[in-house]
Amino acid sequence: AHRVDHEYDYLFKIVLIGDSGVGKSNILSRFTRNEFCLESKSTIGVEFATRTLQASSFCCFTLNDVVVGFELHEGHAPFDAVVLFVLYGSGVEGKTVKAQIWDTAGQERYRAITSAYYRGAVGALLVYDITKRQTFDNVQRWLRELRDHADSNIVIMMAGNKSDLNHLRAVSDQDGQALAEREGLSFLETSALEATNVEKAFQTILTEIY
Ligand code: GTP
Ligand code: MG
Repeated sequence: AHRVDHEYDYLFKIVLIGDSGVGKSNILSRFTRNEFCLESKSTIGVEFATRTLQASSFCCFTLNDVVVGFELHEGHAPFDAVVLFVLYGSGVEGKTVKAQIWDTAGQERYRAITSAYYRGAVGALLVYDITKRQTFDNVQRWLRELRDHADSNIVIMMAGNKSDLNHLRAVSDQDGQALAEREGLSFLETSALEATNVEKAFQTILTEIY
């Protein structure tokens, strides 16, 4: 593989949405830096982070053109900020894909200008908290916002986060599945704390975009 003019061949913008406190910023930090913070502050405005990956039909991982491995173990990021990733599909071998993930405030008063946030986004991760019913009930509101502001072809993955808090569960896995089916979304339960399904959620979005 080689890179000529650009750092990457494809840039995919993915937006994180969902109520305040559901864990969007921790999902982002888990995915891009393999970090989690128990006392994270509410996001004000917009932040973003990126992760670069090289697609290969052999599922090998490369960094600066050097093959560094053949398997990704969820939750073990070998490099700071630059971690590698598998993209399944054809015609993408050797291409470098940069996932640019945007994170904004769930709190209305801190939300950035909506249209700018969604502009150019090809994927969305819509997050709720499995221990807070209200955040699940509000999924419909977030879907409406996506329909109003985002491209109609945007790939949407719904994530029921904090699956590590099973003893406090207020939304069943089946309820999540049923809503996802009704709305035509992909669905996973995730835990940013335990690094469960965080990789898979983004991987699914990127695969569907491609
Ligand atoms: P806003 O920025 O206000 O929209 O919130 P957010 O969706 O970005 O939530 P954030 O990532 O800041 O997380 C809120 C709280 O939930 C923090 O105390 C996190 O430590 C906690 N949290 C996030 N993800 C998980 C998880 O998977 N499990 C558990 N147990 N706690 C989590
Ligand atoms: Mg946040």
